[in-house]
Amino acid sequence: MSHANKRLYIQEVATRDGFQNEARFVDTDAKIALVNKLNDCGFAKIEVTSFTSPKAIPALRDAEAVMHRITRKPGVVYTVLVPNVRGAERALSCDVDEVNLVMSVSESHNRTNLRMTREQSFAQLRDVIKVVEETSVAINVSLSTAMGCPMEGDVAVSEVLSWGQRFADLGVHGVTLCDTTGMAFPSQVNELCRHAIATLRGLELTLHFHNTRGMALANTLAAIGAGVDRFDSSLGGLGGCPYAPGATGNVCTEELVHMLELEGYETGVNLSAAMEAAALLPGLVGHDVPSQVLKAGRRLDLHKMPASAANGIPEQRALVQQGV
Ligand code: COA
Ligand code: ZN
Repeated sequence: MSHANKRLYIQEVATRDGFQNEARFVDTDAKIALVNKLNDCGFAKIEVTSFTSPKAIPALRDAEAVMHRITRKPGVVYTVLVPNVRGAERALSCDVDEVNLVMSVSESHNRTNLRMTREQSFAQLRDVIKVVEETSVAINVSLSTAMGCPMEGDVAVSEVLSWGQRFADLGVHGVTLCDTTGMAFPSQVNELCRHAIATLRGLELTLHFHNTRGMALANTLAAIGAGVDRFDSSLGGLGGCPYAPGATGNVCTEELVHMLELEGYETGVNLSAAMEAAALLPGLVGHDVPSQVLKAGRRLDLHKMPASAANGIPEQRALVQQGV
């Protein structure tokens, strides 16, 4: 089946969702060099860093320095995560294109991650929106645990959409539905996305999958089937989950692009460039990354037939016949 006319938008989040979970501090210059490499990969958007409390997320305590010193490529949207007004002010001082606000649609996860009730978060984000809407900076809201909460279980579609609608009413430009801990499955994703597209009209809708249980690529196809065209992904599959130590991270950019290209979609991403950038990650974070495509190569990266197999077939057949 060909989808040659279907344009998808890939948004790279490794330097935010990935690095925020890393124990090792990635050097500021290395972060900047990586973002500058990402500039040439063809991503629609790059989530560069987050302006959170340096005590909460020490890995990203250099957010200002990174934002000030990266090269900006025309056409790429540079977005940053912002939890509160203080974070928004810091972000605005760095000339970002977009702020990505975050709250969870489940009460327990919001209390755990942001130490507030959902209503307190909403009130705080409403204040952030008031500050940002005075500028030309775009506003996206990421709704965490939209496909399941690790403490409460399933979250009703109506609950997710009502939070989305409340932000739409405040004038935000985009909403991201996040499968924060990899609980989503394809038919659930398809249903949620169909309802979200129908309800949140006129908003830029992004799906944010984690591959915690190996379903992120399947979930992506299910979302595309529902009409979604915009996805967050992380080079190397970086991006852990505090509730599942050692678990696989975000959907892996090179695995996602590899699959979507084979399926005939236009992603705008140069897979070779993305794989080159992903190959730098183990050196930066000090451990292996989950990416399967990085390990196995692309589907048609063929291997030379081993000389022993090419030359020695009769002998081998003899061995097999002897039951060796
Ligand atoms: N930037 C810098 N410093 C910030 C800040 C921001 N955006 N927000 C709060 N702080 C500082 C305060 O100044 C205060 O510093 P102090 O202890 O030196 O006085 C300290 O952080 C605590 O501030 P407080 O308002 O009590 O916030 P908190 O401790 O309840 O933290 C959050 C609230 C949301 C700011 C914090 O939990 C956070 O940043 N969490 C990260 C959430 C996140 O990004 N999760 C992963 C992505 S989903
Ligand atoms: Zn995430």
